[in-house]
Amino acid sequence: MGTERSRRWGVLAADVEADAGAARLVRALGRLGEVEVVSPTQLTLRAGWPEPGLSLSAEGCDLARWDAVLLGRVSPDVHPDLQLDAARALSMAGVPCINSADAMLAAQDKLWTSALLARARVPTPPCAGLGRHEQLDALLSEWGEAVGKPLYGSLGVGLIRCTPADGGAGRDALAEALEREPYVLQRWVETGGVDYRLFVVDGRVEACLRRTAAPGDWRTNAELGGHQEPIVAPRAWQEVAVSAAAAVGLAFGGVDLAVDANGPTVLEVNGFPGFEAIYETTGRDMADAVAQLVLRRSAEAPTGRRATQLPR
Ligand SMILES: Nc1ncnc2c1ncn2[C@@H]1O[C@H](COP(=O)(O)OP(=O)(O)O)[C@@H](O)[C@H]1O
Ligand SMILES: [Mg+2]
Repeated sequence: MGTERSRRWGVLAADVEADAGAARLVRALGRLGEVEVVSPTQLTLRAGWPEPGLSLSAEGCDLARWDAVLLGRVSPDVHPDLQLDAARALSMAGVPCINSADAMLAAQDKLWTSALLARARVPTPPCAGLGRHEQLDALLSEWGEAVGKPLYGSLGVGLIRCTPADGGAGRDALAEALEREPYVLQRWVETGGVDYRLFVVDGRVEACLRRTAAPGDWRTNAELGGHQEPIVAPRAWQEVAVSAAAAVGLAFGGVDLAVDANGPTVLEVNGFPGFEAIYETTGRDMADAVAQLVLRRSAEAPTGRRATQLPR
């Protein structure tokens, strides 16, 4: 019996100290091997033929020696397209990326998330990309009530509710906002200010939080004062959440469900959900489940020397 080689995990993340979820992942991976944290600002991707081939390094070290890499949130200090290319290069070199760059990208884009959910027949409210004001008016008259969301939004920022009773105030605010950034419009789901965050890891629901909006608000985001408590999700909701994560291609993620008379429907899917609320309310560290997933994925990946250098 040979001795087990120590595993070496990479974490691509900007500022681990400031990101409690990433810090939790670094600690959890550290319990399963060595961890190297690399900031996107340290990366150099070079490509050319016949020189230099393809190489991805961080301050001179070839990153293809990692057994797997965990992609953190996109860093604000480097253009997202460059971070995407770096993650793709790692994946091309055979290093399992968790989550994959393409899945992270799909989860960030609310319209594309809806498209992938629809293709997989996962229930989600009708959603449309907003280009022109006329489209907005047509959609509002068809749906009656709807929510405008920044295409790449998160944390409840920039959401605009449009109701038939608001005298056109929502519609006007949205028309103005979409001059500045792309928006989607999603049909309203009557939730009574309650929805559910299901945390999916590798095809299983590991935890579920019931989220209640602050009094007077309709958005349940914790950042906006929403209250969270753990519950056991019914099996049917778990199945929807697992299918949603799979449709977007996420190995782990947070699926937000609204539940009305028609059953559960997916409001959005998050590629790098926070772990803190689950830890605080249940004492369970989702980072351990994610670290086990990383271990499994690296064990499934073909062994042998990996290199970002292309064979010549
Ligand atoms: N279609 C909808 N109908 C009713 N409430 C919604 C709808 N979409 C979003 N919300 C509420 O707004 C919150 C934030 O929306 P979400 O799509 O998750 O955006 P973000 O990425 O900013 O969190 C949700 O958690 C939910 O409480
Ligand atoms: Mg959300």
